[in-house]
Amino acid sequence: MTKLIFVIEHLEPELGKWLIFEYEHVSEIVGKDRLMFTNVKKTGEWQLLSRFGMVEEKSAAEIFNHGKVIILDPKAEHPLKPEDFAGKEAVIVGGILGDHPPKGRTRKLLTKRFPKAMVRHIGRWQFSIDGAVYVAMLVSEGTPLEAIPVKKGLTLKLNGHGEVYLPYAYPLRDGKPLISQRLVAYLCSNEIVKDEERLLKGEL
Ligand SMILES: C[S@@+](CC[C@H](N)C(=O)[O-])C[C@H]1O[C@@H](n2cnc3c(N)ncnc32)[C@H](O)[C@@H]1O
Repeated sequence: MTKLIFVIEHLEPELGKWLIFEYEHVSEIVGKDRLMFTNVKKTGEWQLLSRFGMVEEKSAAEIFNHGKVIILDPKAEHPLKPEDFAGKEAVIVGGILGDHPPKGRTRKLLTKRFPKAMVRHIGRWQFSIDGAVYVAMLVSEGTPLEAIPVKKGLTLKLNGHGEVYLPYAYPLRDGKPLISQRLVAYLCSNEIVKDEERLLKGEL
């Protein structure tokens, strides 16, 4: 059997830190040789992402045989099952940050480009990109979706100054929510506050 490839179709206009931490985490989860970023148009982004996996300027819709892929979309009609992977080459996830409430951007920006492909959901909650890939990897290895424990909503304690609530679903690995530790450190740091100030001033 050929090796299943995990594809992230990069669809955000900017490659910010949050996205970079999630992409890096996907690379740690599935391995650099099984991860491909598609739709990467900017040279700087191309260079950065090549540290984490293969990188393509073209969209996944132009690269893969649509009959041999699975698109992960929260709005899909059917849940993902281990048998869905028979004969498939790749599972494609949107490189899209979470919206709360979700705006259905996966369907608009990704699924619509694959009218004949298999489209599946992994539950009705919105997962992070790395969490969605982790769940897809477990299902591809034979674990049924129902057997994967999930934590809905995650509260991070900020170093003694309040907390931040992430309204997304996180699969549990060894009993702990699967989330990039670099992202947690970033969200709990002053760095994010400084970045937001710079963003408001138009410096980022
Ligand atoms: C953070 S989600 C972004 C979802 C986006 N805000 C939307 O409304 O469609 C990133 C990607 O993970 C995958 N994903 C997240 N939750 C999912 C779910 N419940 N079912 C299927 N795919 C999911 C999708 O490929 C999605 O594009």
